Amino acid sequence: MILFRSLLMGAVFVAMTASTQCVLAGQSKAADAMAIERGRYLVKISGCNDCHTSGYAQAGGKISEKQWLTGDRLGWRGPWGTTYATNLRSFMQNISENQWVKIAHTTQFRPPMPWFALRDMTTQDLQAIYRFVKFLGPGGEAEPTYLPPDQEPNGPFVLFPQPPK
Ligand code: HEC
Repeated sequence: MILFRSLLMGAVFVAMTASTQCVLAGQSKAADAMAIERGRYLVKISGCNDCHTSGYAQAGGKISEKQWLTGDRLGWRGPWGTTYATNLRSFMQNISENQWVKIAHTTQFRPPMPWFALRDMTTQDLQAIYRFVKFLGPGGEAEPTYLPPDQEPNGPFVLFPQPPK
């Protein structure tokens, strides 16, 4: 009888742990989905697509999400040389979420990348952006390489004025 009782208790315990795990897994899935949705929203309203998605600004934002953040071949030329908006889908594949938060909070990128906007984002918002970009997965091609000021770009570029002397 005692043996039967402890077997029964054991079975109840196993059943309880299994259902708790199910609830926890369900909660973290819901939390993930919420972070991805928040990331999608932040990317949309903070202008990342304007530069990091080819043709986005010209098309009034009507570009399929599948193409978002795949970088652009349009150069941004100024006293800093010529920069190209990075393929962020590839970029995120090679770094962890913690590395991303650290990079975003501490790195000063070349113009016209608004690095100061990334710097001022909360850790939670940066994590949401990371989750969303990882959710999109890898895609697109590598952007052209940065050119120093004395090199002429091959493709199209936007020319910024020299600062007044
Ligand atoms: C006005 C155009 C513009 C906007 C808006 C913009 N970026 Fe950028 N971004 C660039 C350019 C150009 C570069 C390349 C800078 C360089 O070469 O140093 C860059 C670089 C980056 C990098 C560095 C990648 C690497 O390879 O080191 C990250 C990360 C990044 N952008 C994320 C974002 C996010 C997230 C947003 C939205 C909050 C955003 N950018 C908005 C133009 C832009």
